[in-house]
Amino acid sequence: MKTLNSQKIFTQAKDVLVGGVNSPVRSFKGVGGNPLVMKYGKGSQIHDEDGNAYTDYCLSWGALIWGHAHHNVVLAAKKNAERGISFGTTTRAEIDLAQHIVSCVPSIELIRFVNSGTEATMSAIRLARGFTKRSLIVKFDGCYHGHADDLLTTAGSGVATLHASSSAGIPQSHVENTLSLPYNDIETLKQTLKKHHENIACVIIEPVAGNMGVIPANKDFLKTLRELTQKHNIVLIFDEVMTGFRTSLGCVQGETGIIPDLTCLGKIIGGGFPIGAYGGRKDIMQHLAPLGGVYQAGTFAGTPVVMRAGLAALKLLNENFYKKLNERAEQLSSSVNHFFEQNKIPAHLSSYKSMMSLRFRREPVQNYSDAQAASGGLQYAQLFHHLLQRGIYWPPADLEAFFLSGMHTKKELKALEEALKNFFLIPSSNAKA
Ligand SMILES: Cc1ncc(COP(=O)(O)O)c(C=O)c1O
Repeated sequence: MKTLNSQKIFTQAKDVLVGGVNSPVRSFKGVGGNPLVMKYGKGSQIHDEDGNAYTDYCLSWGALIWGHAHHNVVLAAKKNAERGISFGTTTRAEIDLAQHIVSCVPSIELIRFVNSGTEATMSAIRLARGFTKRSLIVKFDGCYHGHADDLLTTAGSGVATLHASSSAGIPQSHVENTLSLPYNDIETLKQTLKKHHENIACVIIEPVAGNMGVIPANKDFLKTLRELTQKHNIVLIFDEVMTGFRTSLGCVQGETGIIPDLTCLGKIIGGGFPIGAYGGRKDIMQHLAPLGGVYQAGTFAGTPVVMRAGLAALKLLNENFYKKLNERAEQLSSSVNHFFEQNKIPAHLSSYKSMMSLRFRREPVQNYSDAQAASGGLQYAQLFHHLLQRGIYWPPADLEAFFLSGMHTKKELKALEEALKNFFLIPSSNAKA
């Protein structure tokens, strides 16, 4: 595969962009080799600067449920760009997208648009603290909620009282305000809330984790979480930045019937443009400025081009669409998993509908330490390059999820299935990568 142009451009990128990228996970650090520089995308396909085409299963980290440059989304963006790009005032476009989301997502009565998932979670936490007048937040190991100081913290090894940050530059005071617990562990959750409930403002969780590979929270765990947070007046925040509108119109909360107090959204709701949103119970949301004392603002929040593009993408989604997408996903995962079982290969695809990840072991994965143990490391890197050689683009990091879009054809999914099988059946293809 010729990648000379990508390499040349990436060398230039390194002169002016930190590490040549604007987000670390794009750097191929996790898989080795030079990052590819993409030039254009249409439907399920992306094309690099050397003219190589790939079927894209990364999909801008899950944002592109309609693949690249969907006609309706592009048209909506174009039409609205011509009418003025940003006003810094209320526009009809914001109201239309807000009404649509409120009508779909059970927990959301009032919503605030921001520009990224990070902004959404960061602001939701501030709101929860302002509402409860408490400081502590609880999160779960391996869940990623963006890069706000309070959220880049993990306890590690499931010890809730040990505080350690995942990044340099985070003041100890932030670390001390965050308790990170093992995912799916009811006992630790109960003990922690019993001990600290008077100081806990909120619990934030990905109800289906997608940032330690895909791990759906157990129903009993979520149920207990909802009951305990309700009992102690702790704000429960579902981070559905990744799952929002990926699995159904009602999102994971609609599917499980477990309704949080606040919900964070992003990715899909912008149709591929930068966006974030948080919303929920009216009595909590009304604590936000200008109605209440919790401040949060944004020059570009609710930009009409983004709102219209997002609404165009969301308006195309319906029950039939999800049924078909989820069936295709199910077909892929059951066929690959059947192959692994038959050939006694220590791997499985863990999935929640159209979000999936490959685990390099047979046993199910329940939490972050399981996910790390099953992450594959070098083997994932080899698999990544094996797929790349066959025109398939997966996320360049082993704990990331991959996604299907409405644009992937049966033929493309079959090609992915075959490429996965080949990798595990033909050891020489691993060695070559
Ligand atoms: C669940 C979840 N929350 C929050 C974020 C942060 O969103 P953004 O990258 O738009 O800041 C991400 C990003 O991948 C995410 O997956």
